[in-house]
Amino acid sequence: MRRKVIAGNWKMNKTPNETKKFIEELKALVANTENEVIICVPFIDLATAIEMTKDTNIKVGAQNMHFKANGAYTGEISANMLTEIGTEYVILGHSERRQYYNETDETVNLKLKVAFENGLKPIVCVGESLKQREDGVTKNVITTQTRLALDGLTNELVEKTVIAYEPIWAIGTGKTASNEDANDAIKTIREEIANIYGNETAEKVIIQYGGSVKSSNAKELFEMSDIDGGLVGGASLEPQEFSKIVNYDK
Ligand code: PGA
Repeated sequence: MRRKVIAGNWKMNKTPNETKKFIEELKALVANTENEVIICVPFIDLATAIEMTKDTNIKVGAQNMHFKANGAYTGEISANMLTEIGTEYVILGHSERRQYYNETDETVNLKLKVAFENGLKPIVCVGESLKQREDGVTKNVITTQTRLALDGLTNELVEKTVIAYEPIWAIGTGKTASNEDANDAIKTIREEIANIYGNETAEKVIIQYGGSVKSSNAKELFEMSDIDGGLVGGASLEPQEFSKIVNYDK
C-alpha cells in the first residue's frame, strides 16, 4: 500500500518569524497522523523550519534548486547547500517555475538526477494548461513531461520520486479537477511509468494531486484509488486549515 504524502507549498510566503509561529502551532495539530507531512518553504525560511521541526513528524523541503553544484549563477541555490542544512525534500518543475523562470523538461531531468545524487527527495510537478486541456492533449502533455523528467533514472530512483499532478488551470484558481478527472490523469501517469519501468515500479510511485486542494475537498480526492496525497498551495499557509488536510482521514 502506498502511503499518503501531503506537502505544503508556501511559494513566496512567510518570513522566518512567521515560519516559527506556523510550526509552533502546526506540530501538535499533525502529531498523530500516519501520513507524511512536508512543508516546502522559501530558501530563507529553511534553517528555521528545519530547527523548529527537529523532534516532530514534519519534514521540510525547498521549492527549487539549481542543477550545478556551484558557480557563477547569481541568486541560485545548489543541492548540496540544501542538504548541508538538513533539507529533505525539493519541489522540481513547478508550473510557476516552468512558466516564469524558463524551467524545461530538460532542466527538470537534470535537477532530478542531481537531487538524488545529493540525497534529496524530489517532488516533480507535471500538468496541463487550460488550453492544452481544451485542445484534448492533456494525456500527451502529462505523459511526455513524466517521461522526460524521469529519463535515465534507474527503477530504484523512479520508485523514490514523488510526482505531483497539477493541472495549471486548477492552481490558485479555486477550481479543482473533479475527483474522477484527477484520478484518471494520475492513472495515465502511472500507466506511462509502467510502460517504461514496469508495473511493479509504477505501483510504488507516490503521485499526488495539486490545484486548489483544501480541507473541504481533500478527503474525496485523497480517497480515490490512484491519488496518493496532495501538493497544497494556498491552503497550506494556515496551520488549522493545513492540519485538516493532513488529517483528512481522522
Ligand atoms: P494551490 O497551489 O493549492 O494554491 O492551487 C498548488 C500548487 O501550486 O502547488
